[in-house]
Amino acid sequence: MSRHRVLVTRRIPEAGLRLLHEAAEVDVWDGELPPPRDELLRRVAGVHGLLALLTDRVDDELLDAAGPGLKVVSNFAVGYDNIDVAACARRGIPVGNTPGVLTEATADLAMTLLLAVARRITESNTFVRDDRWVTWGPLLLLGKDVSGATLGIVGFGRIGREVARRARGFGMRVLYTGRGRAPEAVESELGATWVDFDSLLAQSDFVSVHVSLSAETRHLIDAAALAKMRPGSVLINTARGPVVDQAALTDSLRSGHLWGAGLDVTDPEPMRADDPLVNMPNCLIVPHVASATERTRDKMAEKAARNLLAGLRGDPLPDPVPAPAA
Ligand code: GLV
Repeated sequence: MSRHRVLVTRRIPEAGLRLLHEAAEVDVWDGELPPPRDELLRRVAGVHGLLALLTDRVDDELLDAAGPGLKVVSNFAVGYDNIDVAACARRGIPVGNTPGVLTEATADLAMTLLLAVARRITESNTFVRDDRWVTWGPLLLLGKDVSGATLGIVGFGRIGREVARRARGFGMRVLYTGRGRAPEAVESELGATWVDFDSLLAQSDFVSVHVSLSAETRHLIDAAALAKMRPGSVLINTARGPVVDQAALTDSLRSGHLWGAGLDVTDPEPMRADDPLVNMPNCLIVPHVASATERTRDKMAEKAARNLLAGLRGDPLPDPVPAPAA
């Protein structure tokens, strides 16, 4: 029996590639950059499985180019806003993602950004590198206290809850808001209190965003929401760039209403170095690296491979993305 053909749109860790090679003919796009669209459309033709990255747009055009033999789309990410899941569902193609394995790494990075912005770590490091450190100073590079501050978590899924756990360890008061209330046991274990969105914005010294990107959450943090945040507060985003209206964020940081921001995700990605936000001392931007640890990426690769292989066999995916209601 001829082996299934799969396309992997970038080199992923061996932990995943090994599994794929055992069961299929694997075409890996080896470029450092994502495959250009025309190349992607060409290479996807006739494949049975597609292992895609968040940098690939999977839509009707791509599914048409793949042809009727495509049995599964597996995303190497927990977020799947790059995939038209409804279009896949219409064709009976299951979609998989990689939840669970990047929770801790992402929560760690959210806390890293929060602490680094609060304590002005980038500025402090630049200060030393620029040889401006001449003495200890009572007013030098003063930051914000984390201990005793209020953290507002927007989106209380796996990652939001792990951020709460970490924040409690730092002595923060934790508020959260989301689609609904978490079970009481979770609230009490994490010491987190549910409030509505506006109250969270009004009461928090730090707001950290952990919602997936959808039509409802695009620009959830817009100019109006930023205005409701406390003067002198800090915004952290490790979710998806478009959840925040970046022009409004730039204005708010510029005006001094927001004291700082820490962003792992931006809109667009990548961010160019001449963007005003990149050059603001109170804005710390890192290049979408929340899940970028060796162990986490290995686990993501394994999960993505297992979803793909299940789809090729016609089995239910271990981590299926729910198809939208028709
Ligand atoms: C990364 O952003 C992911 O969704 O896994």
